[in-house]
Amino acid sequence: MGDDREPLDHGSGFSRREFLKASGISLSIPLVIGHRVIDVGGAELKLYGPGKAPVELTVNGKRYTAEIEPRVTLLEALRHEFDLTGAKRVCDRATCGACTVIMEGKPVYSCSVLAIEAQAKAITTVEGLLQGDKLHPIQQAFVDNDAQQCGFCTPGFVVACKALLDKKPNPSPEDIRQGLGGNLCRCGTYAGVRAAVTQVAMAGKGGTRYG
Ligand code: FES
Ligand code: FES
Repeated sequence: MGDDREPLDHGSGFSRREFLKASGISLSIPLVIGHRVIDVGGAELKLYGPGKAPVELTVNGKRYTAEIEPRVTLLEALRHEFDLTGAKRVCDRATCGACTVIMEGKPVYSCSVLAIEAQAKAITTVEGLLQGDKLHPIQQAFVDNDAQQCGFCTPGFVVACKALLDKKPNPSPEDIRQGLGGNLCRCGTYAGVRAAVTQVAMAGKGGTRYG
């Protein structure tokens, strides 16, 4: 993975060791709705489940709520609870990038983030990029540059490109390679995707053509 996506560090504030401790503790706790707070080495830890818990997500500026088990990933919640099916499940193991969404300004693999961890965080999916009935410039650039074939990887690539351009409006070829390094396309549309990013960057500089 060439970009800065970190699927195993979800910013949850507790370590793997603490998580394993908490998991052990949870064995002695009956099925509960909601969460309870436990003490782990002097630190308070919210413990969800193993039953369903109320979860609230903010996606594309809109609030969504559902009762879901803590094991449910952000990708599963988006697709199965909220009918936001733009992010795709392909590898389901933080490898291909088809499930990419933007969380707190950074691209993340939604297959590797738990929905409960995504609470109180601003999430943008490909559905949120439309500007009224107009395509977002990066979506239009994908069309202009023939940057998709079967299209299965495309939503993830579009979101990763958006995150890249938000961070680096004028990316170098190396920036583009790095920024999109976490997305795979089995149809080999990489040249078109790179051209799409360059088109948007050039337009932002007042340019009319891309290289
Ligand atoms: S489905 Fe999430 S990275 Fe492949
Ligand atoms: S367009 Fe088919 S996998 Fe990318």
